[in-house]
Amino acid sequence: AAQQQQATAPKIVVAAPNVTVANGTIHSKYDYSTTKVHKLPNGQYRAEPVTKTYEFATSSTVPRLGVMLVGWGGNNGSTLTASIIANRQSLAWETREGVQQANYYGSLVMASTVKLGVDADDETKEVFVPLHDMLPMVHPNDFVLGGWDISGHNLADAMDRARVLDPDLRRQVRDEMRALKPLPSVYYPDFIAANQEDRADNVIPGADKQAHLEQVRRDMREFKAAHGLDKLVILWTANTERFAEVQTGVNDTADNILAAIRRSEAEIAPSTVFAVASILEGHTFINGSPQNTFVPGVLELAERHRVHLGGDDFKSGQTKVKSVIVDFLVNAGIKPLSIASYNHLGNNDGKNLSEHKQFRSKEISKSSVVDDMVAANHILYDAKTNEHPDHVVVIKYVPAVGDSKRALDEYYNEIFMGGRNTLSMFNTCEDSLLASPLIIDLVVLGELLSRVTFKTEAMREFDSLHAVLSPLSYMLKAPLVPQGTPVINSLPRQRAGLEAFLRALVGLPVNNEANLEWKCF
Ligand code: NAI
Repeated sequence: AAQQQQATAPKIVVAAPNVTVANGTIHSKYDYSTTKVHKLPNGQYRAEPVTKTYEFATSSTVPRLGVMLVGWGGNNGSTLTASIIANRQSLAWETREGVQQANYYGSLVMASTVKLGVDADDETKEVFVPLHDMLPMVHPNDFVLGGWDISGHNLADAMDRARVLDPDLRRQVRDEMRALKPLPSVYYPDFIAANQEDRADNVIPGADKQAHLEQVRRDMREFKAAHGLDKLVILWTANTERFAEVQTGVNDTADNILAAIRRSEAEIAPSTVFAVASILEGHTFINGSPQNTFVPGVLELAERHRVHLGGDDFKSGQTKVKSVIVDFLVNAGIKPLSIASYNHLGNNDGKNLSEHKQFRSKEISKSSVVDDMVAANHILYDAKTNEHPDHVVVIKYVPAVGDSKRALDEYYNEIFMGGRNTLSMFNTCEDSLLASPLIIDLVVLGELLSRVTFKTEAMREFDSLHAVLSPLSYMLKAPLVPQGTPVINSLPRQRAGLEAFLRALVGLPVNNEANLEWKCF
């Protein structure tokens, strides 16, 4: 632990007068240039470039990090845990295709690169670096994993139940996995499908929600102490819950929600108990499922305690592709008229979603994904009538296909001169193998962002980032953003936004796709 506590020497050293690295802090003075647009009465736009200076101070001390998963014994939780063990030990295993090595494919942080710049000796060559090297970040091999599940299976049995990983890999990690056992969890049957009841053999007893909150807080403190951890991130990868009703006097304000938990009010969901516990303990909380865990009272509580939140719902398969295809179509001047999406899956997530209220949470989260792209093009879509493509989402439970979710999408588009174009997609998702690396990204970036402080010219002191971590949007289907700010669903914009932000923290300007060095010489 002592070794980990040292500030990590940055891989990238920025040679600029606006950047200093001292006393374990990367300090950057950053000129942020945007364009203010004035709409004039005569229909003209007057565009005014403006530049504002921000200072960022990011601690370069990589903490010894605990990651506590709610729903640890599920497909995602068990797959992630086994995969991290396999990566730590550089395991290889037999598959039908040959010998496979452990890797972190599918993780933006671990397996993607970013353009740092052009080669100083040859401007025709670009230099790409692993995203993980942009700033000092936790390595997933160093995660200390723990968590809760309403099912008492140890992680070895949970991994076998999930039927995601190859048998030869399972064999190699089984002993280590068997020693891991989820803590008893908060179970309010009304929030998840009735078909989950036979799983619930590991629950914190009683119906006193305040007692549940306190138990979960104790679990966090004990886990942190037992493993000598500097920090925790808590992440919900448990079943999709139904939406909680937002009620005045219950979950609408920070004070009301704390009082409502004391009164064990019916509309306090298990995920909200975990979110409140994390906030009160000062730990970043991320929601990987679609339900409205972050009711207004939770948001206010997080802001009050200056604790970070990220959500909602992992963006792994169908929706991720949709946030690329619709970006392409609309920005190519092609007008999607309808988007019809079907899914069938046979894992426990699919079983839970076969009940209407839980399906409804997923439907809501999947539905808003094209909104920003549609709203951005008023040539194709009439803003006055709120014109929008028809968009339906269907999910069916088909046990035979297990974790191998099938997503079928039809995009029916209007093209030049009244023509029609139909795109049809068939996406076999391997659900948990797509979602598990997203958990890594959410945790690593969520932790990094909690080490960032900023100051504008108007501020006297540095402050932490807003409680709602919108830079995590790339990994999330229904990105939570600070109230009143725009939601960006487009995947290319999300990626560009994250890259630009990481560059700002080390004092580098955005990558300029004007690429003048290749045009004007
Ligand atoms: P899963 O059903 O295999 O795992 C969920 C686990 O949560 C189960 O082990 C269950 O016993 C446990 N659980 C339920 N209620 C709990 C509670 N109150 N406290 C603690 N544990 C509880 O599901 P999977 O496939 O791992 O997905 C997890 C969540 O992630 C689901 O809500 C799913 O909708 C969401 N998600 C998954 C994606 C993917 O796998 N590609 C993509 C987007 C979201």
